[in-house]
Amino acid sequence: MGKNTVFADDIKEVIIDEEELKQRISELGKEITDSYEEDDDIVMLCILRGAVLFMADLAREIDLPVVFDFMDVSSYGASTESSGVVRIIKDMEENIEGRHLLIVEDIIDTGRTLKHVVDMLETRDPKSIKVVTLLDKPDRRVQKEIDADFNGFEIPDKFVVGYGLDFAEKYRNLSFIGVLKEKLYI
Ligand code: IMP
Ligand code: MG
Repeated sequence: MGKNTVFADDIKEVIIDEEELKQRISELGKEITDSYEEDDDIVMLCILRGAVLFMADLAREIDLPVVFDFMDVSSYGASTESSGVVRIIKDMEENIEGRHLLIVEDIIDTGRTLKHVVDMLETRDPKSIKVVTLLDKPDRRVQKEIDADFNGFEIPDKFVVGYGLDFAEKYRNLSFIGVLKEKLYI
């Protein structure tokens, strides 16, 4: 469990350790770099707050000039499932018309949050929209048409925390992705 021993009692198992995260993010950076032209104008949009650590590490593995932007969305619902009612807490700042947009997400679960964000940003006429997600729970998808262009890891239907992902705002600073003990969230 490494340096984050304060949470050791809350974690059932580590499913992706720090080394695996690093390795896969480096590969994702190469895949993303190869998918664009050298002179493309790219806006990397971090969906707050879960994607912050992923965005920071991924950006350093992308060998292209990128601009950073941030959007904060909140999805109402039970604490471990989104409802589909998505509220924009903070919109992005950049004008994306005619530019390439790369949305950086922590996890696609039901797909409702991403569907809402993509539908909204499409109306602003970007040149392209691509999505990179660190984690994907395909078994949980409600919005079937929503998929990432780049996906770090497919994971089973378990509630995970760490490396940016929270439960009730906690555990974001774990350096690995772990499964929370069920008694903590049921
Ligand atoms: P969706 O709208 O159901 O796809 O949910 C996406 C959002 O829910 C993510 O951006 C996360 O903030 C949160 N989420 C979904 N699954 C998990 C999980 O296993 N752990 C922590 N947060 C999660
Ligand atoms: Mg969350």
